[in-house]
Amino acid sequence: MTNHEIKIAFEEYTSLKELNTTDQNLCLEAVNAMANSHSPYSKFRVGAALQLKSGKIIHGSNQENVAYPSGLCAERVALFHWGATYPNDPIESIAITAHTDGFELLKPVTPCGSCLQVLAEYERKQDKPIRVILYCIDGLTWITSGIENFLPFLFFEDRLT
Ligand code: THU
Repeated sequence: MTNHEIKIAFEEYTSLKELNTTDQNLCLEAVNAMANSHSPYSKFRVGAALQLKSGKIIHGSNQENVAYPSGLCAERVALFHWGATYPNDPIESIAITAHTDGFELLKPVTPCGSCLQVLAEYERKQDKPIRVILYCIDGLTWITSGIENFLPFLFFEDRLT
């Protein structure tokens, strides 16, 4: 038997002002994206913003449905829009934020497993890691350099591609 250990890494910031201006701006774009959240069921608004290499920014917000499973997370709304419209303009970073009137959010919202799997797919497609910026408006901000920090045992099979 052999024991293995995997380490993940992330940066933690207590104030948005500590981030570089591009990242600060992307966090504010994620806040703007929340304005179009359609979340009458959970009342949990999520916004995502993608920073593309060209400088373009893509927005996404969670879109819920009365048939609950038909809704989609903010991250995948933004990512699928990118995949359908700007697939040759690499994604450098994604910023994600959330707000609810129901309770206070003091730590960042992390992407669900399905969104991580989609992020991982597009990292492979563009052959470049996607930085993930998790911005909590009234709390901490966490930054990771790529999806492997969330999913070290990510499913991938080269022979399926
Ligand atoms: N949600 C997102 O949009 N992204 C996340 O990272 C977590 C959850 C949405 C899905 C649903 O509309 C609401 O938040 C509550 O789960």
